[in-house]
Amino acid sequence: MIDSLKLDKRVKNLLLILREKDLVTYRHSVRVANIVHFICVEWELPNVELITRSALLHDIGKLRIPTHILDKNAKLNEEEWTLMKNHASDSFDILHSLFSPDEIDFQMIRHHHENEDGTGYPVGLKSTNISYNTKLIRIIDSYEAMTGIRPYRKPLTKEDAIGELKRYSGIYYDRDMLERFHYTINKEVSAVAKSSYVVGSHIL
Ligand SMILES: [Fe+2]
Repeated sequence: MIDSLKLDKRVKNLLLILREKDLVTYRHSVRVANIVHFICVEWELPNVELITRSALLHDIGKLRIPTHILDKNAKLNEEEWTLMKNHASDSFDILHSLFSPDEIDFQMIRHHHENEDGTGYPVGLKSTNISYNTKLIRIIDSYEAMTGIRPYRKPLTKEDAIGELKRYSGIYYDRDMLERFHYTINKEVSAVAKSSYVVGSHIL
């Protein structure tokens, strides 16, 4: 699925540019898309291709963030953090000019850092105003960020990552969806690992 999406010229070109600029975000995006795809299939959600394509490109706005900020291993200062937070709206801008609403879930892209309690960005939407697909990528984005390989830290185990997500259940993440995600990821973790490996080997 992911590889067939990447064959679309627009998707492929964006991912190639992202890989060139920021390998960590590129790998994160591919892994997020793999997990999102896995969950969509397990939960029999409609529009699997639309959701997976959106997951693959959710961080494409990072193309507009200066490399020294993306690569910084220390805490970002206020000005850098403000720039970094623009990436969600920038992803929306870039994708809006290239895709139609039946190809990309624009709400999911623009709001993938909104929190249940309204403390997220760019708008500060609260739970009832956050769409289902947006809540889904919010969880999986964080799960991948914790469990994925990064140059500056060891990945958390699946159990530790779930534990960390649950500390913010109902605060950042939708409570019921997080429970269901926990159940599904426990059940089929080997399938996710396998799909990640396939894509991982493809990109290395
Ligand atoms: Fe993001």
